[in-house]
Amino acid sequence: MSQNQKFVIANWKMKLGISESIHLAKAIKKIKSNVEVVVCPSFASVVEVRNILKGSKVKVGGQDCFWESEGAYTGEVSASQLREAGCDYVIIGHSERRKYLQETDEMIHNKIKTALSASLTPIICVGESFEQRSEGATDYVLINQVTKAIEGVDLGSDKKIIIAYEPVWVIGSGQAISPDEAEHAHQVIRQSLFDIFSPGLVKNNFSIIYGGSITSQNVGEFIALENTSGVLVGGASLKSDEFIAIIKNTQNTY
Ligand code: PGA
Repeated sequence: MSQNQKFVIANWKMKLGISESIHLAKAIKKIKSNVEVVVCPSFASVVEVRNILKGSKVKVGGQDCFWESEGAYTGEVSASQLREAGCDYVIIGHSERRKYLQETDEMIHNKIKTALSASLTPIICVGESFEQRSEGATDYVLINQVTKAIEGVDLGSDKKIIIAYEPVWVIGSGQAISPDEAEHAHQVIRQSLFDIFSPGLVKNNFSIIYGGSITSQNVGEFIALENTSGVLVGGASLKSDEFIAIIKNTQNTY
């Protein structure tokens, strides 16, 4: 992962049916960009989407994986199954899963370990709630979530990790935070990484990206930030024209 590599990662959540996912994958498969473009469909659509995108520049990721590599875990999907389905990435610890599925820092830590051992690049989501922000606890929350997620993870020089800073209260709100605030959060995250890993590993193996109400209009301001290597996009990734415009504006900015 070169330090200058930029990412545009689409989180389709549970918002598209299988035929809608196929339609969207077909509309974006011709994307040619020096940005690393990743789409994360729901599990039911991963194989179909991957088949359409095979041979294109667009990579595929899962939206979650289980922390055990196999076994009697009804309803769960393993990292190696995602890998076998053609995924290169997996989102872990999205705030919607922390909220609705009660995912804990420990579960997230274990999911990261299994993702790495299946040769997937984890996209780890961290971010404060509105209440935590109002109490002035944002930095504390970020340091705590990052540390609990990755401290003790065995990170060889070939393993990559993406940390996505997503202020929870901004997701899906239509109103991103100011780029200055994102830059501050990213500095806090980078500092916590330095407290855990060697400077070389932090520089070469980690990328920090921003997520929360990104559009083609505001993406340039975030990409231009020193400590920001890309964006995680929800709502605006569901329309092909808008998603392609986000990629173009990312490419034009750096
Ligand atoms: P949003 O979602 O772009 O719709 O705010 C981002 C996310 O949840 O990853």
